[in-house]
Amino acid sequence: MKIFITVFFSFFILGIAFLPTSTSSKKVKPTEKVSEILYKLGDEEPNHFLRYPSKKSIELGRQLFHEGFATKESGKKVKRLSKHFVCTSCHNVEKEFNDLSQNDAQVRLDYATQNQMPFLQGSPMYGAINRTSFYNGDYYKKYGDLVNVARNNLREAIQLCAIECAQGRKLKNWEIEALLSYLWTLGLEIEDLQLDGSDLQLIDQALVDKNKSAEAISLIKSKYMDHSPATFTTPPSSFAEGYGLQGVPENGKNIYELGCLHCHKDGRYSFVNLDNSKYSFKYLDNHVDSYSHSSIYQVARYGTPTHPGKKAYMPQYTLEKMTDQQMEDLRAYIKQEAKK
Ligand code: HEC
Ligand code: HEC
Repeated sequence: MKIFITVFFSFFILGIAFLPTSTSSKKVKPTEKVSEILYKLGDEEPNHFLRYPSKKSIELGRQLFHEGFATKESGKKVKRLSKHFVCTSCHNVEKEFNDLSQNDAQVRLDYATQNQMPFLQGSPMYGAINRTSFYNGDYYKKYGDLVNVARNNLREAIQLCAIECAQGRKLKNWEIEALLSYLWTLGLEIEDLQLDGSDLQLIDQALVDKNKSAEAISLIKSKYMDHSPATFTTPPSSFAEGYGLQGVPENGKNIYELGCLHCHKDGRYSFVNLDNSKYSFKYLDNHVDSYSHSSIYQVARYGTPTHPGKKAYMPQYTLEKMTDQQMEDLRAYIKQEAKK
């Protein structure tokens, strides 16, 4: 009898400990879209708001984004968006951080390494519809007035990127809507925000009590970045000396394999072929110190020149996408492999 009571009470206590009410929400599902909850809480909709994008449009957008062209229902293929790139050349469609409120380049690289995903110059399209401004920071230096229309307008941001970043043609209206529809499927979900029990409780309360909605909205918005900051930077003043930081080759290996090889392996998006052969590392090593247009400092910090609509080019890495330390890590890896 004593044993029975002990067992009974142990289960009872365990039961209380695992009662779901403290850590989960009654009203919000983990997979629910953040945009939908914000909308329910009375937050203002962005001008790119699409409540119910059609399945057809989403599918066309997916094809345009990943394949660079689309096949309409009639079987008619639309002309390629770009001869050189697809959107995934430079943008992932997965999230790139566990904690979406931060933006550290090394945390981003660690996440990419852990999940074996590309480490690219462009921000991920996962969560793009949750952002309120685009081509932030220094991008106006590169694209000038074009940024003015794109900064607060996701449709214009897509158009700008298709022409300027992807060196492609002007998009038709339905193509912009299709791409936007696809991006709406990549909106942040509640579980991405890593909310704790009391956060969820507040949201639950705010959904029935308007007095709490402002607090709940700002709580939700504090859990992710609503824009991608962008800081342009320069190569070191002496290429031979570099940034004066000790490089870590193991880290450089991840940059090389997940970053550089994404575009350069088998000449995927570039005529410049790079791989894991000694030849590749020697080529990079031979140019790194000289003030050559092929030095990694030059290409990573300035990119390669663009010729509108005519050529592939390499986009630069902002500080948010590659730190000076990471540049030195890459260099250390190249040096190490070239010597082998
Ligand atoms: C050659 C590289 C490249 C290609 C190809 C490319 N992009 Fe971009 N894109 C960039 C870079 C670099 C930025 C600068 C801002 C950022 O992403 O952080 C950008 C910005 C954007 C933004 C604004 C993101 C933000 O938060 O500021 C959108 C939207 C976008 N691109 C959509 C697309 C779409 C759609 C395609 C395909 C039609 C595409 N891009 C193809 C490199 C590229
Ligand atoms: C988004 C795709 C992309 C990524 C990522 C990328 N490159 Fe490039 N790179 C290019 C393109 C495109 C060119 C231009 C040459 C061409 O037309 O094929 C280029 C050119 C170069 C050149 C030759 C420049 C010259 O003028 O001689 C070097 C060297 C180079 N890249 C190194 C790198 C290294 C190192 C990395 C990783 C840090 C890297 N690239 C990442 C696309 C990319």
